[in-house]
Amino acid sequence: MKLLVDRRDAFASASDAVVSALYERGEKDDTFPRTLAKEDEATRGALKAAWARKEVRGKRREVTVVHRGANQGRLVLVGLGAREKYSAETVRRAAAEAVKALKGKGARTVAFRLAAFVTEAVDAEAAARAIVDGGTLGGYEFVKYKSTTEGGVEESTVHLGEEFARNEAAVKRAVAHEVEIAETVVWTRDLANLPADTATPERLAAEAVALGKELGLKVTVFDEEKLAEMGCGGILAVGGGSAHPPRMVVLEYAGGARRGRTVAVVGKGITFDSGGISIKPAPHMSDMKFDKSGAVAVLGILRAAATLKVPPRVVGVMCCAENLPSGTAYRPGDVVRTFNGKTIEVLNTDAEGRVVLSDGLGYVTQHYRPDEIIDLATLTGAQVVALGDDTAGLVANDEKLAQGLLAASAATGEPIWRMPLTDYHRELVKSEVGDVRNSIEIPLAGMLTAAAFLENFVGSTPWAHLDIAGAAYTTVSTRKYQPSYQNVGATGFGVRLVTRYLLDAPRA
Ligand code: BES
Ligand code: MN
Ligand code: ZN
Repeated sequence: MKLLVDRRDAFASASDAVVSALYERGEKDDTFPRTLAKEDEATRGALKAAWARKEVRGKRREVTVVHRGANQGRLVLVGLGAREKYSAETVRRAAAEAVKALKGKGARTVAFRLAAFVTEAVDAEAAARAIVDGGTLGGYEFVKYKSTTEGGVEESTVHLGEEFARNEAAVKRAVAHEVEIAETVVWTRDLANLPADTATPERLAAEAVALGKELGLKVTVFDEEKLAEMGCGGILAVGGGSAHPPRMVVLEYAGGARRGRTVAVVGKGITFDSGGISIKPAPHMSDMKFDKSGAVAVLGILRAAATLKVPPRVVGVMCCAENLPSGTAYRPGDVVRTFNGKTIEVLNTDAEGRVVLSDGLGYVTQHYRPDEIIDLATLTGAQVVALGDDTAGLVANDEKLAQGLLAASAATGEPIWRMPLTDYHRELVKSEVGDVRNSIEIPLAGMLTAAAFLENFVGSTPWAHLDIAGAAYTTVSTRKYQPSYQNVGATGFGVRLVTRYLLDAPRA
């Protein structure tokens, strides 16, 4: 979607639709909102009439379309809900709802009336950024395999009007910046939505190489031979059952600050997770094409980091393999040696994410000695049980890193929740025959024992683990409860969050 900024009033534009908004009024408050005077004038009283009929109340997710008359386009009025709960997240959702309401309805250009979205809590720049996020992500659809599409909004303009004309430069800067981020999320979603027959480990590696060329990043691809040489027994074991061999991909962005710190971002890239020999049941198995979402998010984060020139140096690691059962697959009972020398007793081939990450984390820890490591992984079903499919789980061994990520979460609206990691969890992953075991015989704190397992591969490096099993994609069953800027399929979760962290985090 194209995004523009215009000094004029939204109603002075020739757009197919003007988008404005209103807060919810109390039950007894029947007075027509003063803030909608321009809107009413533009619709020649039709809005006031709709208000009188109680057609417009300002409830969350309420969308009213009023036609302005011959060749004047439409007014789209979005409900914002209670004023006390208003935040940038409200704007993201409202913008998405407006764009969605216009999908397949012949509206190509949309004018957002910025003044309708600015309050004490959300200033002009923040509101404009949220419009960019919501409009771009709400309009997103994965159409690669569709022969026909409905067609939706192609161009959105943030109109400053006389209220905010003096903020033009700052709003323009904010919009340009956020467009980069939102477009990167779209790009990430397009990649994460590809099915496993197409998005093989080799293909993900090729995408990384292409991105590196485009942005001047150093990209190294380790194929199965090189991985064997390096002693990456974990990723080789998991990928052993597939005709598509595993790949570990390392991307380096040099950093915008001189002698800045190094942040490593490591992602789980299981292109398909059948469970392997410990095979999964058939229902929902197709969702496991999204099991690469962590690694694809790493690619998105590197793209955003390099285009926006974030201060720290960023090293991305993608641990890519396909988990299938076959005559060459790894089996329960196998013991594999990983890059850092620690051995894993495989008790369940479906706990494969932690096995591929062991090599990625071990490698980046030893080879780059980063100041911080953040990993993203669709790691456990237990995460979804504990926190649902909107909120990712955070486990961290470092207070500052955890606080930084929580702040980025609040700023971006990508929800995360911190969970504990104790010696009890560490005890539970000890193995009788090797150093650690990849699963336990009882279903207990599954997200946290997985984190305790990963901790073995980061040494004493400040580290944060994001279990994005639920948040990485949405399904038809929960789609309508999710924020309107998430559509069915991959969400690109983590890209906005970690990019924000890299932009804002302290340099020390
Ligand atoms: N990829 C799955 C986790 C997952 C589940 C992601 C649901 C998204 C939605 C992971 O590899 C897995 O299978 N985990 C097992 C671990 C268990 C065998 C210890 C799980 O959570 O059941
Ligand atoms: Mn699995
Ligand atoms: Zn998996």
